[in-house]
Amino acid sequence: MTAKIIDGRLIAETLRAEIAREATDFRNQTGIVPHLTAVLVGDDPASAVYVKNKHLACEKAGFKSTLVRLPAETTQQELLHVVERLNADPTVHGILVQLPLPKGLAAQPILDAVSPLKDVDCFHPENVGLLSQGRPRFLPCTPSGVQQILIHEQVTVPGAHVVIVGRSDIVGRPLALMLLQKGQAADATVTVCHSRTKDLAAVARTADILVAAIGQPEFITADMVKPGAVVIDVGINRVGERLVGDVAFAAVSEVASAITPVPRGVGPMTITMLLANTLKAAKLAS
Ligand code: GUN
Repeated sequence: MTAKIIDGRLIAETLRAEIAREATDFRNQTGIVPHLTAVLVGDDPASAVYVKNKHLACEKAGFKSTLVRLPAETTQQELLHVVERLNADPTVHGILVQLPLPKGLAAQPILDAVSPLKDVDCFHPENVGLLSQGRPRFLPCTPSGVQQILIHEQVTVPGAHVVIVGRSDIVGRPLALMLLQKGQAADATVTVCHSRTKDLAAVARTADILVAAIGQPEFITADMVKPGAVVIDVGINRVGERLVGDVAFAAVSEVASAITPVPRGVGPMTITMLLANTLKAAKLAS
């Protein structure tokens, strides 16, 4: 079997055009332009690229985008004050504190300080709680991007066994919550594997839909994939000059029925769902 290669960039473009149209309608009705503010602390080159891509995507969708750049020496208290200032600014609808923060800064108290109504990452405990109760305010961006891929590819999720490899706060755990819920591209039987899982390969092989989000280059090999499974690769790893996912793409493509590539798979979807959340935040504030 040779897998269909899922074009995440195409799905992202389609959704971004819809979001841009919705933002125009909203602006025409209310005069409000959705406004995302990103906070970037220090000069991690990868984070600078991510933030720039978010900025460009906002501009293209007709959103306002502001970047607050702070030096790596910023103190916890100073960063907290920046977040509090943005919380109090009614012209800012979405706040994103780019992770990872430089050494010496604790992320959790900062993320907890972001107003839950402006928490477009869906990292605040109130929003994670709402998500786990099945009544989300925002959907976390990367898991939501994965779900949108499954919807657009018309993958049957209800009743399917989804195995998620990786239990991170950003991807694995929230994705498991979302796919467990009732609704479109949900109602799945979900297993979450991690570093302590016994015989992870055997568990992965039972997946109808296998999601790799473990942050290890080419961790998922062909022998871990059931023939005909749908494979979603959330990993982005730099190996020398190359970007590779968490899936050994060439070999797994021979076994799976459909697979997301890296790049141009899940990556473009994450920013797309950030735009969706920023528009939602602007609507919540209006
Ligand atoms: N760093 C890597 N991924 C993310 C993300 O989704 N949100 C934020 N704020 N930082 C990140």
